[in-house]
Parts: sequence; structure tokens; C-alpha cells
Amino acid sequence: PVNLFGELRKNSMGVNFSNDNELKALAEAVNAKTGQWTATPLVAGAQGNGPTVQVTNPADRRDKVGSYVSADAALVDKALANGVAAQPAWDRLPAASRAAILEHAADQLEVRRGEFMALCVREAGKSLPDAIAEVREAADFLRYYATMARRLFGHPEQLPGPTGESNQLFLNGRGVFVCISPWNFPLAIFLGQVSAALAAGNSVIAKPAEQTSLIGYAAVKLLHEAGVPADVLQYLPGDGAVVGAALTKDPRVAGVAFTGSTETAWAINRALAARNAPIAALIAETGGQNAMIADSSALPEQIVKDVIASAFQSAGQRCSAARVLFVQEDIADKVTGMLAGAMAELKIGDPGQLSTDVGPVIDEDALKILNDHAARMDKEAKKIAEAKLDAAATGNGTFFAPRAYEIPSLDILKREVFGPVLHVIRWKGADLPKVIDAINATGYGLTLGVHSRIDDTVEYIRSHARVGNCYVNRNQIGAVVGVQPFGGESLSGTGPKAGGPHYLLRFAGERTLTINT
Ligand code: SER
Repeated sequence: PVNLFGELRKNSMGVNFSNDNELKALAEAVNAKTGQWTATPLVAGAQGNGPTVQVTNPADRRDKVGSYVSADAALVDKALANGVAAQPAWDRLPAASRAAILEHAADQLEVRRGEFMALCVREAGKSLPDAIAEVREAADFLRYYATMARRLFGHPEQLPGPTGESNQLFLNGRGVFVCISPWNFPLAIFLGQVSAALAAGNSVIAKPAEQTSLIGYAAVKLLHEAGVPADVLQYLPGDGAVVGAALTKDPRVAGVAFTGSTETAWAINRALAARNAPIAALIAETGGQNAMIADSSALPEQIVKDVIASAFQSAGQRCSAARVLFVQEDIADKVTGMLAGAMAELKIGDPGQLSTDVGPVIDEDALKILNDHAARMDKEAKKIAEAKLDAAATGNGTFFAPRAYEIPSLDILKREVFGPVLHVIRWKGADLPKVIDAINATGYGLTLGVHSRIDDTVEYIRSHARVGNCYVNRNQIGAVVGVQPFGGESLSGTGPKAGGPHYLLRFAGERTLTINT
């Protein structure tokens, strides 16, 4: 297909996995446990006085990663005042100047990737391959939105008009954008939201997830060092119920980019709507109840390989992750047998080791939700497999052994369970429409995996499933910036898609200029 956007940008190269020396050097950088990272709020002309929070490694709570100072209410007020004052000058900069700063930050991120990967492993429990991918995706977002800013904001669109009249459409920043990001992509989604909002001419207040405040701080410093002024991008770590709530009820906020749970998105939407203020833009990317559908024409080996990656990579802590495998009954025994075999081989433990397949879950709260769900499934479902946890490797962290359960229908799953638990449902060949109806009836619509070599089946699913990202005959995670624009519909999000050509537009206003020449 023709790329209508004529894009020349290249995605980040990441790390060459076949180069042992390169991999070894990165593993050493990540595992050099000397860093004691610290972070404070970054608000121009003010200091934070909130409580200090200690950060420990989810893989080993004895490993002290660092600490951060939380923001308090006075800082939220000051940050908003700064952001309002600083935004117009930033917006009036040529888009190419903003883009060049973001591109410079991407280059520096790649130069300093060992440090960022170390933070991703030690603060967020990311496996080494996931940490490499995280840095690569973050660099891609920076460069992609820089490219799109040049294209969309670089010059006004010339519009037709009668002789003697000139019409032009300009794009502009909206004002102060609040970016509230998740812990599961603490660098990539954080920098994606922030760089998009900046590229479009907004000032930004970045609120990281509490669990990954140190990574957010390092990312904001990176952008400051690349040239974003201190009052154009500010950083407010802290409790969502305090900092997030204070920000989203303030009438000075022109827009919010949020990634996290559907429940929190509702709360943000209500808070924004309750203000006597201009109606704010809300870009929310939320949960899912993602399915993979496999029919009997598919290769069982490939189904198992792709479902293992989709359900268990990143310890299942991706919004794109597969939660339910619908497998046609003719091949169900074979697939579940192979799945159990493959799960027995999964290595769970230190995310800083290249041999590890599954690292920890993010914290004790997440672990409790998963353990409670597993206890319920143990009673109500049939266990297919539970991976082995080695107590010596996992005893000091928040680890959860991946599990697979066979369940009779989706009704048994009340809500998304955010971790490495796969549910398997058998279906009969004639029931494809019912399967799609059941998936649509969850109300979510993020990713869908399909394994089939029957074109009509693929086309039926494509045209009936209400999902944002559908992947056929491969895994369903790891959308690539500029290649698979990512984001769901219905309860899974508002759009526009991250890493897609329309994303920046939601961060922008439009102004038409008509001149009688
Ligand atoms: N963008 C991620 C993926 O595609 C999920 O947030 O896996």
C-alpha cells in the first residue's frame, strides 16, 4: 500500500540480539546494581515538600532502587500557573524547532540506553528484552511525533476561495495538557504522551504512575536537557488520588492524555466534566478483555508459540495481552496439551537475566488480585497448567506463576485480570458468529488475535469484531510505532491511535484565517 504520509523516518534499530558482545554489555550495564536513583517534582521556581517514597525492585524487595519526593497541592497550583504562562510562546515556535528538540532527545535516549534500561528492569521489573523494546519504542514515539509535527503543524493548509480571498487552516496547541501514564510502559507510553502533547504546541504536566516515578523523572530530565524549557514540561510524581485528582478538577487544564484502567478514565472524565471551564480534550487508552481465536485450519505449534508470547510476555502486563484463547474443539486437546508442555519450560525469575522468560508483577496489590483470581479459578475452572516458581529465584519479589485455565464461557470473567493468566474456551466450527458476539459483548475492543488459514473466516472476523488492533497468524502484542497504530474502542479507549498519523490532531486546536486580498 502507498504510504499517504510519505514518511521517511526510520524506527529505532534497538539491539542486535545476534551480537553477543552487545547483549553482554547491556546486561552488565543493567545488572550493575550501584545506582541509587532519586527524583523530585520538577516545577519551575518551586520545590516539593511532599512525603518521600522509597522505591524497591519488584523482583527483589531487598534491592533499594532509590526514592522520590511526592508533589503536594501547592506544587500542583504552581505547575498549572507556569504551564498556562509558558504555553503560548512554545506554541508560536516553528513546529520544526519543537520537532528538532524531540529528535535530539531520541538520539540521547539511544546513547544513554543502558541507564534507561537499568531503570526499566529495576523499578518496573521489565525483562531485558522488554527493556530493550521499551527504549526503542520510546525513541520511535519521539521521532514519529516530531515527523508528524513538521508535516501537520509546519505550515497552514491552503484552502480554496473566490478570487480576492485567501483561506488558510492553522493548527495550534490547546494549552496545558496533563499526561497521566501507566507503569507497564513507564518510558514508552510516558514519552509517547508527553512528546505528542509537546509536538502539538502544548505545555505539559507529566504525572507518572506511582510505581515508576524514577523512570518518569529520568525521561523528563532527558527532554529538558534536549531543550524543552522547564516551565513547558513539568513533572509531578505522587499519589493519583492526590496529584491526579487535583490536576483533573482544575479549570486551567485544556486536555488530558491518560493510559490506565477504564475506571480511572471514567473518574477523569467526570472530573473534567464537572468543571466550569472550556470542555477539555480527553484521550484515554484503557483496559481490554482480549481474545485470540484459533480454528482447526491453524497450525497448533504456531498457536501455542503466539499465545505464550501474547499471554505471558511482560508477565501478561500489557493492555494488548491475550486473556482468552478460543480454540476450535477439533484441535483443542492437542493445543492445550502443547500449551501445558510449553508452560512447563517457562523460566520465571530475575528480569535482568537474558534467560528469564517471565519477570515479576509490578507490586503486592497486583499479586494479591492475581492470587485471588487464581483461587477462584481453581474452584470454578479446570486448570490446564501452572508454570513452576523456583522459590530461591523468586522468594523476595512479587512473582506469580503463569497459569492457564479452561472455562465454559466468557461470563465467568467479570473483568480484566492484568497478569499472566490465560483462559481457554472451546468452540464448535459453526459457532464463529457466537464467538464474535461474545467477544463484542464484553464491551471492550482492544486487540484480537486470529489463527486461521481460511480467508472467509478471517474476513468474517475482521468485519464483525469491534476491536482496534486485529492480528492474524502471529502474536497480538508489541504494536510498532508508525506501523501498527495502536488503541482500542468502546470501553478500551477514546482513540486516536498512538503511533498513528491522526494522534497529534486530538492534542490540537484549529483556526481558520480568511483574508480579503
Ligand atoms: N502498545 C503495547 C502493545 O502493543 C501495549 O500497550 O503491546
